Amino acid sequence: MSEKHEAEAGRTRLASALIANGSLTSDWLASFNSVPRHWFVPDVVWPGQADGVRQGEAVNRHADPAAWWNAVYSDAPLTTQWDDGDHTGEARGATPTSSNSMPTMVFSMLAASDATDGIRVLEVGNGTGWNAALLSHRLGCGNVVTVEVDKDSAAEAGLRLARAGYSPTLVVGDGSEGSADGAPFDRVIATCSVRRVPYA
Ligand SMILES: C[S@@+](CC[C@H](N)C(=O)[O-])C[C@H]1O[C@@H](n2cnc3c(N)ncnc32)[C@H](O)[C@@H]1O
Repeated sequence: MSEKHEAEAGRTRLASALIANGSLTSDWLASFNSVPRHWFVPDVVWPGQADGVRQGEAVNRHADPAAWWNAVYSDAPLTTQWDDGDHTGEARGATPTSSNSMPTMVFSMLAASDATDGIRVLEVGNGTGWNAALLSHRLGCGNVVTVEVDKDSAAEAGLRLARAGYSPTLVVGDGSEGSADGAPFDRVIATCSVRRVPYA
């Protein structure tokens, strides 16, 4: 199948699954269709569960394109980095430290944000940039600030966002400190975990 057909078939399949489970609401459908997940997925990923325990082997786009497309358009988180980037290549490490989140989780959180036109959103945990691009599509880039603690992930995501035509404010730093850049915000979406809700 050509890339275009893989993308179209995958997008249709995933949209149906997300609509059926209630996570993709009608107000986010245009963003889902305009910001394809595959634009934000690196060539090597580890599909699996968010806890990393049942994580499988690496899937490499060049070695096995069919498996890569299948992973991209499945409702699964895709780990993109282990151990803060200490490893390169296809060896998995001990702890997943960055990912493209599970689509059900992405759209459930976007729906829960109760976004309306013109509101300003802070995303903590830019990762691959997909969620920031979805927010930018819906709200406008000027209303989105996204913080990423890992500078390498941020640099790669910045390139992907630019290629996709989106330019939210991308800050490299610790999102638990909030972001003076662009504050105040109407909503905060944290796509990383925290032990307690930080004061900022
Ligand atoms: C699940 S991934 C983000 C998925 C992302 N929203 C996407 O669309 O691809 C979580 C990200 O949060 C980042 N992160 C973890 N703690 C953070 C913090 N305190 N401040 C900012 N980013 C953080 C990690 O480096 C990782 O890239």
